Amino acid sequence: MFDTPRGDFPATRMRRLRRHDWSRRLIRENHLAVDDLIWPIFVIDRPQSEPIVSMPGVERLPIDQVRRAAAEAAELGIPVLALFPATDSALKTEDAAEAVNPENLVCRTVRAVKEEVGDAVGVLCDVALDPYSSHGQDGLVRNGYVTNDLTVEMLCQQSLIQVEAGCDIVAPSDMMDGRIGAIRNTLDENGHVQVHVMAYAAKYASAFYGPFRDAVGSSGNLAGGDKKTYQQDPANTNEAMHEVALDLREGADSVMVKPGMPYLDIVRRVKDQFSVPTFAYQVSGEYAMLNAAAQMGWLDREQVMLESLLAFKRAGADGILTYFARDVARLLG
Ligand code: PBG
Repeated sequence: MFDTPRGDFPATRMRRLRRHDWSRRLIRENHLAVDDLIWPIFVIDRPQSEPIVSMPGVERLPIDQVRRAAAEAAELGIPVLALFPATDSALKTEDAAEAVNPENLVCRTVRAVKEEVGDAVGVLCDVALDPYSSHGQDGLVRNGYVTNDLTVEMLCQQSLIQVEAGCDIVAPSDMMDGRIGAIRNTLDENGHVQVHVMAYAAKYASAFYGPFRDAVGSSGNLAGGDKKTYQQDPANTNEAMHEVALDLREGADSVMVKPGMPYLDIVRRVKDQFSVPTFAYQVSGEYAMLNAAAQMGWLDREQVMLESLLAFKRAGADGILTYFARDVARLLG
């Protein structure tokens, strides 16, 4: 041994417990598991899958391929799929009417997935109007302003048709005030008391959503506009606590923080303060960033994927929405 005792220096050697793999495993505090994963999938109403340039390894899938992905999720033990429709631009309108069409792409996909996997995999649907609006905003626009209460009425309808198609978790991502309570009421009045509402409670007006907006084709619609009148200011922390408190009071079953990696401080604070199921969304821009560096050979894709997801667990998240879900599940499986 090169390290020999010299008097009492140092009695405490932190490196003792790090010396062997078995020892590191023995004292490990946090673990990433397949049970922690929610897998977001983009759906299209076309016969062939399409690559998403800014999200290497992720494609927009036709319904039959989403079915296959769902079967694979069941096999891998991934608990939940999150479905995002890339709506044909011809169907996008000022009033986002397609959002409340019970035959729209996402509802048809939910039915297909449930038919394929039943209760082996939960299905989550996003609630917001941006995949359907010609202006790319999450709500109805009047005089250039994204209205709140009119939008909430529509979000209630959107939630209801998604639930009636078989969706298990509705996840409002729109950041309108009062929408959690209104959606809960609508669902309860229609007999859907058991449907889980996961609130995108602390959702920031972030530049990390860029590739997602490419994926669902809303970035062109947004035309340089932003969502700052409803999504949160990245400078704020207390505001996120206020949002979470309101959503819980309105009946949210679980809450989400979004984006993920740059907002781990928020995840930790939410978990500590509320002790409720807390999720984080490793968003498209985070995925793009890690993959771009990996493609350049600057980062090891597998290692940063695992490390970044473990960081969410360390911050207190109960689960993570991540585009790496299938890759991780294959690796951990
Ligand atoms: C829709 C929605 C967005 C994301 C999830 N739901 C985009 C936005 O708010 O503009 C982003 C997800 C991602 O970037 O991976 N409201």
